[in-house]
Amino acid sequence: MTTLMNRQYYLASRPAGAPDSSNVPARDVPVPEPADGEVVLKNLYISLDPAIRGWMGDDPNYIEPIALGDAVRSSVIGRVVKSDSPDFAEGDVAMTVGAWEAYTRVPGVMLNKLDEAAGIPLSTYLGVLGPTGLTAYFGLLDVGRPKAGDTVLVSAAAGAVGSVVGQIAKMQGCRVVGMAGTDDKCRWLEEDLGFDAVINYKQCGDYEAAIRVACPKGVDVYFDNVGGEIFDAALLCLNKFARVAVCGWISTYNVPDAPGPTNLWQLVAESVTVQGFTVIDYMDRFPEGIAQLAEWVVAGKLQFREEIVDGLDNILPTFLRLFDGSNQGKLVIRIPEE
Ligand SMILES: NC(=O)c1ccc[n+]([C@@H]2O[C@H](COP(=O)([O-])OP(=O)(O)OC[C@H]3O[C@@H](n4cnc5c(N)ncnc54)[C@H](OP(=O)(O)O)[C@@H]3O)[C@@H](O)[C@H]2O)c1
Repeated sequence: MTTLMNRQYYLASRPAGAPDSSNVPARDVPVPEPADGEVVLKNLYISLDPAIRGWMGDDPNYIEPIALGDAVRSSVIGRVVKSDSPDFAEGDVAMTVGAWEAYTRVPGVMLNKLDEAAGIPLSTYLGVLGPTGLTAYFGLLDVGRPKAGDTVLVSAAAGAVGSVVGQIAKMQGCRVVGMAGTDDKCRWLEEDLGFDAVINYKQCGDYEAAIRVACPKGVDVYFDNVGGEIFDAALLCLNKFARVAVCGWISTYNVPDAPGPTNLWQLVAESVTVQGFTVIDYMDRFPEGIAQLAEWVVAGKLQFREEIVDGLDNILPTFLRLFDGSNQGKLVIRIPEE
């Protein structure tokens, strides 16, 4: 029996700011044989998500921090290379919560089998037809509750979640305004995705003034992907009974002791509802969300960008691109099959 060797990127220490290779070094370890009911996947795609940065810390979170010494947790798609599960055969492709590693050993019951023959690019199950698409779908429709004619403001609007939020909001008959960090991203939002207005937040100067110009009737739904000063400025532009869907605060993830918002009185002044959520809250409705997202993609109503970077050894520098905005849509590492 051949022993497979596993390249893993593991959490050696908790980062204070942006993680570096001393926090997340590599090691090569043997892959244990699958125990009763377990499966070994050879990973093909590894999802890079801002949330992973939160799990590297030890602040209270919606799931346990990554334990020191463990490989960095991530969603993965892989091909079964060894199986002791009656439900999986060698060659099957499946998705699971795995790690930044070449092989993932996992109980078969933790796997979600994917139908390769369906012809859907596998990487989309990590993006528009997976966690980020579902986050946009449930976060906007259930938490943001947009109505036709509402103005919907989205931050990180050209990203994996934000770009889907904006397009779904357009389908609801809303006026959609996106904030993004480059002219190229802003152009894509306006020209290809049909956003009504855009703000390049790295060029606009005063955020509040820019939002007021782009949203002359105020903001009814703010879908917040970034937190920080943009969140604070958006609070000043909310209409009566506005809804704020707090999806993520990426501007704070690498900033220890980031200052909190100062304009919270607006929640009283405008009777605003602010609700945080995670996509996990909607697990029992994933089939509904995936079916609807797939229908829109097939009908050409929902466009998406994904950026696929080859090579497990590029994983840490590629992950950091989520925080400088150089990623173009859903960011995924691919490990090519020999
Ligand atoms: N609640 C949930 O269940 C859930 C699930 C998935 C994701 N999320 C959250 O959703 C947000 C977007 O995630 P994603 O996976 O779709 O990533 P993404 O938007 O594809 O990539 C991250 C983007 O954030 C922007 N960004 C980075 N640093 C920023 C800063 N300091 N200020 C403003 N914008 C900044 C960059 O775009 P620019 O070029 O425009 O700056 C970057 O491209 C994150 O906050 C994430 O944690 C939440």
